[in-house]
Amino acid sequence: MAMPLIQIESVFVAYGNPPRAVLAGIDLEIEEGSFVCLLGQTGCGKSTLLRLVLGSERPLRGRILIDGREHHQPDSTRGYVPQRYALFPDRTVLDNITFGPEVSEFGLAGRLRPAFYRRRKELRDEAFHYLRRIGLRESDASKYPHQLSGGMQQRVAIAQALINRPRILLMDEAFSALDSGTRREMQSLVRELWKSTGTTLLFVTHNIDEALRLGTRVVVLAREAPELGSRIAMDLAVPDPCAQEDIPSLMDRLERVSCPAEAGGTVTLSV
Ligand SMILES: Nc1ncnc2c1ncn2[C@@H]1O[C@H](COP(=O)(O)OP(=O)(O)OP(=O)(O)O)[C@@H](O)[C@H]1O
Ligand SMILES: [Mg+2]
Repeated sequence: MAMPLIQIESVFVAYGNPPRAVLAGIDLEIEEGSFVCLLGQTGCGKSTLLRLVLGSERPLRGRILIDGREHHQPDSTRGYVPQRYALFPDRTVLDNITFGPEVSEFGLAGRLRPAFYRRRKELRDEAFHYLRRIGLRESDASKYPHQLSGGMQQRVAIAQALINRPRILLMDEAFSALDSGTRREMQSLVRELWKSTGTTLLFVTHNIDEALRLGTRVVVLAREAPELGSRIAMDLAVPDPCAQEDIPSLMDRLERVSCPAEAGGTVTLSV
């Protein structure tokens, strides 16, 4: 069998002094091309886990392998749409999208080289391609972030991540600030991009319905007691497409594990 693209092995993370465990003994293997939705109560360590896969943070114990190797820094194989994304306010939509690859390929000094201008033209053409794919108009390219709605800014943040053609796309509550109509649109867009690009998605959400609609797998993080780090409380393969009649019972199971207090249940950590 092929090696999983992402291997998370016995990962332990603690913060503070004295240290307080956030993630304790996380083991997870993610196959290339899967769409994994990560659920869990606020503060359970979802964003932390995403940052570990990104490589911007390292675990205290355990390791994360991508394609069999540890990576200690973010690179263009992993696209990241953070929980609080921020566009550059003084750059246009187009410049926001092309900025990442321009800097990673040329640095700041390399921008004086003639090759930079040739590549910049290519990147701008690609940026227009992604602009259309995310449902913005060409006339939006010259706008500044303050001229865009939250939903449009969110789309630009996704295009920023996509232009690097990442093998892995990490999205942290990407749609939480959107109204339900825009949210549905963005869900379809991401699902379609996932299908057409073959990228592996790790998608954090608080919304169980969204997780079941989008994911091929739903992983729930939860802690058994406040002083303990989170573990994987449930790891569920989602049929594609998820049959409508299955959704209520899956939602019920997921709710009991991810929001035990509201569901009147307790977390028992058996997968
Ligand atoms: N750099 C840090 N230093 C200290 N504590 C941190 C740091 N990053 C995260 N934490 C703590 O670790 C815990 C998990 O944080 P994390 O942001 O991963 O949770 P989350 O599941 O993404 O929550 P939310 O759903 O609210 O976004 C929280 O208690 C948070 O305060
Ligand atoms: Mg978070």
